[in-house]
Amino acid sequence: MARMSTLQDTPTGYGTVTRALHWGMAALFAWQFASAILRVVAEDTAIEKFFWSTHYSVGFTLWVLVLLRGAWGLANLRRRPRPEGSAAVARAARLGHLALYLLMIAVPSLALLRSAGSGRGLTVWGVEVIARGGEQVRALTAPGSALHAPLGWALLVLIVGHVAMALWHGHVRGDATLTRMTRGSSDRPAAQA
Ligand code: HEM
Repeated sequence: MARMSTLQDTPTGYGTVTRALHWGMAALFAWQFASAILRVVAEDTAIEKFFWSTHYSVGFTLWVLVLLRGAWGLANLRRRPRPEGSAAVARAARLGHLALYLLMIAVPSLALLRSAGSGRGLTVWGVEVIARGGEQVRALTAPGSALHAPLGWALLVLIVGHVAMALWHGHVRGDATLTRMTRGSSDRPAAQA
């Protein structure tokens, strides 16, 4: 059967919009975690300063994209491919994806709440999105200060697990999970559970 490229998802593969969001966000997450890792291992170096100067703007962009992606995912929920593998593997995949979404929303949201309550404002790609000034509001800053970094690292661990499982599906189990997100609709038959 000829491979079709559609905007929407289908039961045999992800459409153009889902794949563009997935790979565009993967590239931005790689950049975002590079800035976080450099902040820990190479603080005050030129490369760290360069990457860290983008952390707020890339983080805000990821926040907007994850909301769009969540809305698009919900709109396509009934059309999407079902997870492959045994019942236990499929359940683990659903739980893993749910945790990824929750953290992808919570991590930047906590930082943005902290910015909103800090009085320092927030400028994204040169545009002021939260005005500077006003008193610090601890109820808004405290959750971000306590949780943004630890949940950010937890998100990195989940992303590494997600990549490992995708490679396992594609190269060890040999099912269509990986090609559905790289090439879209796949005519590769589902592997036996
Ligand atoms: C999905 C998006 C984001 C991810 C994955 C992320 C990840 C991280 C990580 C892992 C750290 C810890 C670095 C360390 O241990 O020193 C961190 C720190 C930080 N991030 Fe983000 N971040 C995101 C979005 C944002 C946004 C939108 C802002 C600002 C509005 C922001 C502001 C900060 C600040 C100020 C710190 C240092 C203070 C702290 O550790 O909480 N981040 N980020």
